[in-house]
Amino acid sequence: MLQELSAKELPKVEKEITDFLNTSSANDELKKSMLYSVEAGGKRIRPLIVLATMRAFKKELSAPVYQTAGALEMIHTYSLIHDDLPAMDDDDLRRGKPTNHKIYGEALAILAGDGLLTGAFQLISETTLAPAENVLLIQLLAKAAGIGGMVAGQAGDMAAEKQQVSLEQLKTIHRGKTGSLLTYAFVAGGILAQQTEYVIELLEKLGNHIGLAFQIRDDLLDVVGTTEELGKQVGQDQKSEKSTYPGLLGLEGAKQALTTELAQAEKTVQQLAEATEFQPEVFEELLTLFKL
Ligand code: IPE
Ligand code: IPE
Ligand code: MG
Ligand code: MG
Ligand code: MG
Repeated sequence: MLQELSAKELPKVEKEITDFLNTSSANDELKKSMLYSVEAGGKRIRPLIVLATMRAFKKELSAPVYQTAGALEMIHTYSLIHDDLPAMDDDDLRRGKPTNHKIYGEALAILAGDGLLTGAFQLISETTLAPAENVLLIQLLAKAAGIGGMVAGQAGDMAAEKQQVSLEQLKTIHRGKTGSLLTYAFVAGGILAQQTEYVIELLEKLGNHIGLAFQIRDDLLDVVGTTEELGKQVGQDQKSEKSTYPGLLGLEGAKQALTTELAQAEKTVQQLAEATEFQPEVFEELLTLFKL
């Protein structure tokens, strides 16, 4: 199922993004810089979740779904460009390629991020959805990406460098910087699939568990993964003295925390199955992506 979505449907999301950027009036260097990071690839996990959620509810995929998923991936890509800047994590490898600022310089990398962020809102506002549904999706995306979500989490992450933080504080950082955009993917899928408020709440809960699991896994892979498989330098968190799950709980403790979050996600899928008609196997398959 996911294989088929990745092969046949994700390219349509990617086309929404590249068409949007190619037809923009941005000057050549700015356009190249944005396209460079978008076309470098990445796992496309957030748009995949939007598509998979629609599929789980047996809904047809259509242009507004691709546009919403595309906007989300644009925001995620911008967050990576800025995350890699010297003033933040100072990384030189991303998606298996030199980071944006290494190729285009810091000023253009900052602007490429700005362009992807604002462009995402233009793209999602141009769908043919009913205005109320479209505005809701836009508003939730702004919340997830912004000062109550990803941006706040990134600020927390920077402030927690070289600091001892509690597990509760670390959870809040991870839920913000990573969990909020992943949660949006599930919730947006539910909204596009016309689900009830209760089902959307369960999708939000599922997103919260998956989102936290995803960053715990990312922290673990920075310790036990390889540069080849991740397409980014490993060992960076320790070098920057980041606050992480393995740092706080040790490798085994972090693995246990990951298992716990995934078990809770699993439980939430069961709750969803009781609440509404859908294909649980889609989510079951999705959950396997977050195991170590
Ligand atoms: C990396 O995200 C940053 C985090 C939020 C942990 P991904 O692991 O989804 O990165 P790409 O999109 O596959 O490059
Ligand atoms: C980044 O977290 C989360 C973002 C919002 C981009 P990390 O800094 O751990 O992500 P990587 O390891 O550089 O991909
Ligand atoms: Mg970071
Ligand atoms: Mg980083
Ligand atoms: Mg990381």
